[in-house]
Formats: sequence, C-alpha cells, structure tokens
Amino acid sequence: MGGKDNYAVDREAGDAFAAISPGVFDLARQSRQFLIRTVNYLATEAGVRQFLDIGTGLPTMDNTHEVAQRAAPDARVVYVDNDPLVLAHARALLTNTTDEGVTDYIDVDFHDPDQIVADARNVLNFTKPVAVMFMGVLGHVADYDEVRSIVAGVMAAVPSGSYLVLWDGTDTSEEQVTAADDYKDTGAVAYIVRSPEQLARCFEGLEMVEPGLVSISRWRPDPAQDDEKPVDGYGAVARKP
Ligand SMILES: C[S@@+](CC[C@H](N)C(=O)[O-])C[C@H]1O[C@@H](n2cnc3c(N)ncnc32)[C@H](O)[C@@H]1O
Repeated sequence: MGGKDNYAVDREAGDAFAAISPGVFDLARQSRQFLIRTVNYLATEAGVRQFLDIGTGLPTMDNTHEVAQRAAPDARVVYVDNDPLVLAHARALLTNTTDEGVTDYIDVDFHDPDQIVADARNVLNFTKPVAVMFMGVLGHVADYDEVRSIVAGVMAAVPSGSYLVLWDGTDTSEEQVTAADDYKDTGAVAYIVRSPEQLARCFEGLEMVEPGLVSISRWRPDPAQDDEKPVDGYGAVARKP
C-alpha cells in the first residue's frame, strides 16, 4: 500500500500468500486507491463531513482522516478497531491534520454494532449524514448473515443522506480462493472471501452511486493515474434514501 508500519512476520505471511495468489499485491494497492477516491468523492461531491471507519488497520499512507480533512478541513473521523496493536499505533499516528477537524479512535468489537454507534455518538452527530466504511474487514466475520446484520445495524442508526462504503476480497479467482483457504489452515484468523453477489446484498435498501458494485480498481478510476485491471476485491458507495 505504501505504508511503513509492518512486521517481518506479516511480510513473510504476505509473501507466502502471494506465492499462490500474486494478485494480492495489486489488490492491496488498489484498496488504498479505492479508499482515497471514495473518501474524496464523499467529502467533495457528496458533501459528507462525518466518517465512521470500521476496522481501521495499522496506519498506512493516506489514512481516511488525512484524505477527508485534505478535502474538507472540518471533517470528523471516528476509527473503530479491537486489535491492541492497532490501538497503540492509532494513538501515536491518527491525529488531526487540521485545527477544525476531529479524529478519534474507539476500541470496540465490530460484532457489536450497537456499541459502535453508542461510542461514536460522543464524537459524531447522528442527526447529520455519516459515511459508514467497511473497507476490507468483513471477511473476518465467519457467518454471512452476521455480516449483513452488522452492516444493517450501523446503517439503521444513521440518518437519510448517509452513505455506506464497503469493499471486500472476492472469490473471483481460483488463486485467491486457494490462498485464503491455505491461510485459514495455518491457524491464522481466517479471512473469508465472498462472491460479488453476496457483497451486493449488503447494500439492499440503499441507492447505489455510479458505477455500482465493481472491482475496486474500476470504481471511478482516474484514467491518467489508475490501473483499471480488475482485482479480486469488489466495492461500492451507496446512499441511504
Ligand atoms: C484487513 S484490515 C483492513 C484495514 C483498513 N480498513 C484498510 O482498508 O486498510 C482488517 C482490520 O479489521 C480489524 N478487525 C478484525 N476483527 C475485528 C473485530 N471483531 N472488531 C473490530 N475490528 C476488527 C483488524 O484488527 C484489522 O485492523
């Protein structure tokens, strides 16, 4: 992705995954470009000023608050994660980039959407639009029905005019399916890749923003800058009517 906070054991795991599914490098890079383009779209064209980024990850290049506050200095961003290492990095690195903006971090297990909303209310105003983000995180949830109920639980708490941004790894290549299976067999926390149709159903009841659910490299790419070769990750932006 271009970040610098990573560990030898993770690099080794990444290389082992890539030996089976070389597309994972493009997927990782494209996932950050998708985040940059979608957050930019929300902060500029859609005029959203509040972001709830669920499953923060280790800070890397162009984190959500940096992209949002570059476009809208008064943007308020709440990150949610439950990994102690992510928390330690977040405290050190995820700080406001502007005087007007707010960046906060809450330590919540995302299996509990009510708790996410209860804690986020301390920083975000839930009578105004919120962009709810699930960026490459829901593969950690084993049960597909629970995936849908987590997304629906948070979206039920935000007002009309709010947005859902979601992407996840997909079963769109044999290589990625095999690598994900092998990864699970190592005893690591499994990551379940799902079909584009399963991801599409997470957006039910919402209005898709063009171009709808696509391989993330094809979501409003900048032809001068972005490689539009499809990757095994699908995502979309949709508005709550
Ligand atoms: C693959 S990373 C995605 C990071 C980031 N969204 C991105 O786009 O780069 C998944 C993140 O989800 C977090 N996570 C996994 N299970 C979680 C849970 N039950 N509750 C909260 N966060 C969780 C992990 O700690 C990790 O930071």
